[in-house]
Amino acid sequence: MPRWSKRSLVAQAMGTVDPLTRAVVPPIHVATTYVRDPDNAYSAGYIYGRPDNATVRQAEAVIAMLEEAEAGALLFASGMAAATAVFQALDPGDHVVAPKVMYWALRNWLATEAVRWGLGVDLVPMADLDALRDAVRPGRTKLVWIETPANPLWTVTDIAHAAEVAHAAGARLAVDSTVASPAHTRPLALGADLVMHAATKILNGHSDVIAGALAAARADDFWERIARIRASQGAILGPFEAYLLTRGMRTLALRAAAQAQSALILAERLQAHPRVARVLYPGLPTHSGHAVAVRQMEGGFGSMLSIRAAGGEGAAIDTAARVELWKRATSLGGVESLIEHRASVEGAGTPCPPDLLRLSVGIEDPDDLFDDLDQALRAAHR
Ligand SMILES: Cc1ncc(COP(=O)(O)O)c(C=O)c1O
Repeated sequence: MPRWSKRSLVAQAMGTVDPLTRAVVPPIHVATTYVRDPDNAYSAGYIYGRPDNATVRQAEAVIAMLEEAEAGALLFASGMAAATAVFQALDPGDHVVAPKVMYWALRNWLATEAVRWGLGVDLVPMADLDALRDAVRPGRTKLVWIETPANPLWTVTDIAHAAEVAHAAGARLAVDSTVASPAHTRPLALGADLVMHAATKILNGHSDVIAGALAAARADDFWERIARIRASQGAILGPFEAYLLTRGMRTLALRAAAQAQSALILAERLQAHPRVARVLYPGLPTHSGHAVAVRQMEGGFGSMLSIRAAGGEGAAIDTAARVELWKRATSLGGVESLIEHRASVEGAGTPCPPDLLRLSVGIEDPDDLFDDLDQALRAAHR
């Protein structure tokens, strides 16, 4: 165990000091290539910018520490680049199980590209562990992918149980922990093999970086294959983005705590709102995943909730049109609060209810956030 808590270590980005100047913020390494030694070696360990970069490594060290990842972390140019690298590391003919309701772009990729790649894909209602048990094929299933809490209903999956089912079938468990963030859930400690983040979201926290992260419990062949895929396909994060991400992560503990606290306040107040039919938030005892969330989440239930407008789809869209403080935009986890009519984003065939508004709660005054939503809900046409 490190001597200092995660909160202290992340605040100082692992305490790295530039050896040349003693600067508390190390410089951004922008070089794409490095000088070879006269004896033909590369004594500093860097050769070229596509496989590796020192600024990227610094952000990776922070994520590996936060996730308690023995094998370390790898940063990618987006969350999707990180997630798809995991599936690309499988072999044609391998079988994977993923949730029916999950981040829509990855579900679409699995249904279109992954199957062309030769993977067998089964999508199941993941919160139901019997459904997962029925779907895994011992010996053939190589990966179980879960997202918890999962877009856009914030479905909670029991990570420890999913790991047991996956491992009994000879499969790995990967967890998209974007919404929980390392502030609220420790998937590797609960038995997962891999954890993935759209670092674009709460890890960075300022809506100014697209990035993805993977962290692994073990440095095995699969993890090495993922690293080779990143290097050969050029999916590494850029150094400027890595620097911004490191800067953003320094305040993760404070942001995540404040955002989760505000999300709970809003969820409780919106539950009593006459224009709201339902509030979906794992922190509410009325949410189907509450009991598991209480067991596996720490320090709060995250900054994402959804509301279903009592007036239906039209009222939901009109509510989003009438807010002033909330920003009408997709994405999540930033310091500014966002609202979106989710079915409009996901398009035809979405399992998202048409009356659902997805809310990403930022660090503004929760009273202001409530008042703005309240006036918009009351003014919205049915
Ligand atoms: C849960 C989740 N996973 C993955 C992604 C993909 O991340 P990116 O947009 O960085 O590719 C997102 C993006 O919204 C997400 O919300």
